[in-house]
Amino acid sequence: MAVYNNKGGVGKTTTTLNLAAALAIFKKRVLIVDFDPNQSDLGDALNLPPLKGKILDVLKSKESIVREVIKTYKFEHPRLREPWGFDIILADEDLVTEFDEVKVKQQVKFHALHRVLESVQHDYDYILIDAPPNWRIFAQKAVCAADVVLIPARHDNLHSLQNAGTAITKFIPEAQARRREVGDSGPIALPIFMNNALRPKGPTVQLMHQAIARIIKDTKKNSGGFDLTPYFYPRYRKGHENLKIIAIPYMAFISKADFMHMPAAFAFKAAREQYMNLAREYFL
Ligand SMILES: Nc1ncnc2c1ncn2[C@@H]1O[C@H](COP(=O)(O)OP(=O)(O)OP(=O)(O)O)[C@@H](O)[C@H]1O
Ligand SMILES: [Mg+2]
Repeated sequence: MAVYNNKGGVGKTTTTLNLAAALAIFKKRVLIVDFDPNQSDLGDALNLPPLKGKILDVLKSKESIVREVIKTYKFEHPRLREPWGFDIILADEDLVTEFDEVKVKQQVKFHALHRVLESVQHDYDYILIDAPPNWRIFAQKAVCAADVVLIPARHDNLHSLQNAGTAITKFIPEAQARRREVGDSGPIALPIFMNNALRPKGPTVQLMHQAIARIIKDTKKNSGGFDLTPYFYPRYRKGHENLKIIAIPYMAFISKADFMHMPAAFAFKAAREQYMNLAREYFL
């Protein structure tokens, strides 16, 4: 699963980390991949330093040497009989310091990340990839390597809602076309979820519903009748117009956990409940 929105700061990294943590609590085997080398926020959130040069070898190699760069993160607590944890492939700072995007394009085959992750897919129940907030090479490779794409947005940020629509109508179809080159159908979008959602009936929520209505209408008009309704409102059925969105509330615990360098879903019960519900919603 790639976690993607080309809008920045909507919670991609936080969602990747905490969904992995929630799935780990459900005893699933999880690998997370930091594919945002410009920021390497995922590793930062766990206080793990980025790699230096190894990922390029992994992406270029014909052998499966990816296991050499997989680390295990463990969360221990006196009340836990066994530690909670997941595996992680950290970002590689050399991918941005020594290699500009042109060189990455020349040296790394487009589907390299997909191929590398396929070589370990049987070791895991879920692989989650954190993508950068743009539609350039690393984001494209992350989305193209995925079978499903989870798109976080913010109910109070119009651009994040619009960009979520664009990801579904434009970028994901592009990724599907690239995956057809290697003989399969490629990623599909999961329903969008609102991260940082505030009170469900507050005034910004009304603005959100209005903005979504407009995005749905404009998309229908501009892309030959394509209907975004089920992506924004997964419980909507004709004649039974349920406008429930999938959401995680704003929670001070979630950003506090960043400062403590641990996933909020491990450190705080209230955050854990939220992310376990999100994991149930999407995966279980
Ligand atoms: N539900 C939430 N409640 C409170 N704080 C949150 C929540 N989700 C994310 N945050 C905080 O918002 C900030 C941005 O989140 P995050 O880094 O996950 O976004 P991002 O989409 O990965 O950003 P970028 O586009 O820069 O990669 C972080 O400080 C994070 O701790
Ligand atoms: Mg991020």
